[in-house]
Parts: sequence; structure tokens; C-alpha cells
Amino acid sequence: MAGRVAGKVALVTGAAMGLGAETARRLAGEGAAVLLTDRDPAGEAVALAIVAAGGQAAFCLHDVASEGDWTAAVAAAVELFGKLDILVNNAGIASSSLDLMTHSLEDWRRILSINLDGVFLGLRYAGPALAVQGGSVINLSSILGKVAIPNAAAYCASKGGVLLLTKAAAVEWAPLGIRVNSVHPGFIDTPMVANALQASENGNEMRDALIAAHPMARFGVPREIADAVVFLASDESSFMTGAELVVDGGYTAQ
Ligand SMILES: NC(=O)c1ccc[n+]([C@@H]2O[C@H](COP(=O)([O-])OP(=O)(O)OC[C@H]3O[C@@H](n4cnc5c(N)ncnc54)[C@H](O)[C@@H]3O)[C@@H](O)[C@H]2O)c1
Repeated sequence: MAGRVAGKVALVTGAAMGLGAETARRLAGEGAAVLLTDRDPAGEAVALAIVAAGGQAAFCLHDVASEGDWTAAVAAAVELFGKLDILVNNAGIASSSLDLMTHSLEDWRRILSINLDGVFLGLRYAGPALAVQGGSVINLSSILGKVAIPNAAAYCASKGGVLLLTKAAAVEWAPLGIRVNSVHPGFIDTPMVANALQASENGNEMRDALIAAHPMARFGVPREIADAVVFLASDESSFMTGAELVVDGGYTAQ
């Protein structure tokens, strides 16, 4: 099959909706066989739609904070499609507004366990399969892994951790032929952002303020992040590793 990632096998976490679902569709559209994983069974329908459109895909239930689930997900990718070339550590959660002076340790750990431990576990358990023939890992960080906003300390810390974990893996794994890069989206129209705005008392004002913080004066759309992931997954980015690919409508340029 022709395509920018033809013949490659990808595992995309958090692929039931939002950026993960769009990334899985784009990778499959460019010729990869894709194992979509998520703790939400809605990912099954996304995989079936990819297959119905002529792509190669399957779904596996997977909580990225669970070591046992990681073992099973990597084994499923290799059993179904024969190998693993691309890992997209996309699953993540936002936090409600959390004030540092009252923030519970439990909330801190819940966010870090998915957003940072989940990426560590992905590297830890997919690494051996990627090392067989070399590969590409794309970790979803955020603009909030580079700059902060108030009341999001755990989220910012988790995404900052992903940024440097990415570089640590990149330098360690360059000799193995595994590239590791991070993507830093600005605010993108996904269920994560819609739910956060809906849960907030002044959601409409917040939406306007967030849009105004992007020089391009809009939110991004999932396709714009998925395209960056496909580029990093493909051989077009063959000399890139440990890089921070910012896709933010200019948010961090100011
Ligand atoms: N949307 C944005 O504006 C934005 C900006 C910067 C970074 N990001 C990051 O991009 C990634 C995707 O964000 P999104 O906007 O598509 O979010 P989303 O909430 O719309 O979708 C996230 C998906 O991850 C899944 N998920 C959550 N916890 C999981 C777990 N423990 N195990 C497996 N799956 C789990 C959810 O079920 C969901 O399907 C996240 O890491 C997020 O932090 C998003």
C-alpha cells in the first residue's frame, strides 16, 4: 500500500476520541497498520470505521497507568501485525482547576500517573519491540509543558516531565535506531477542551480568552496535530530526535 508510513505498525494510546482518534485515522490513511488502545471501549468503533474505509486497524482496551495492560497491548500489536515501528503516547487527562494551596496529593498522583507514568510505561514496555527494527516514538506533551497557566500545576508538571523524558529516551535510544520526539499542541478542539470549558463557571469567557491567547485567533483542529504526528512517525523526519515540535498557532511565540 502506498503512503507516508506504508508497511509500518503503530500503537496509538487514547485513541477513542480527540487527537488519538484522528492520529490513528491519519496513520492508517498513510498506510500503517494501527492498534488503537484506550480505557474507553468507544475506541472499538473508531477502529472498525478505519477498517470499513479500507485501512488496517484493531482495538485493545488499555489503561496506560497499568503495567499489565502495557504488556498485553504491545503483545497484541506484535501478534496482530507482526512488529511495532511507531508508538504514539497520546492518552492524557486534563485537571479541573486546582489551587496549589489546597491541591490534594491524590489529585496530583492521579494526573501524574496517567500523563507522565503512562508515557514512561509506554517507553519501558514498547521499547524492546521497537528496538527489533528501529522505530519512532511520539509523545504528546503540550504548550503547558513549556509555559504555565495558573491552577494547573500537576498538568504542567506532567507535560514538562514528558518533554525531558522524551529527550532522555532520545539520547539513550539513538544508537538503537529509535527516534523519540515530543509534540506540543496549543488549545485544540477536542472533547478534553470542550469538557473543561463546559465544567467551568465562565466557560464562554474562558473560551474567548484562550482563543485570544493564540496569535492565529482560533483553536487548532485535531487534523493539525495528527499531521505533525504523521510527519514524526514517517521517514520524512529521519534526522529528528529529542525535538519539541510546537503546533500552537503562535501561543508560545509571544
Ligand atoms: N486538546 C488540547 O488542547 C491539547 C493540548 C495540548 C496537549 N494535549 C494532549 O493531547 C493528548 C490527547 O488530548 P485530547 O484533547 O485528544 O484528549 P481527549 O480527552 O479528547 O481524549 C483523550 C483520550 O485518552 C483516553 N484516556 C484517558 N486516560 C487514559 C488512560 N489512563 N488510559 C488509556 N486511555 C486514557 C480517554 O479515554 C480519551 O479517549 C493528551 O495527552 C493531552 O494532554 C491536548
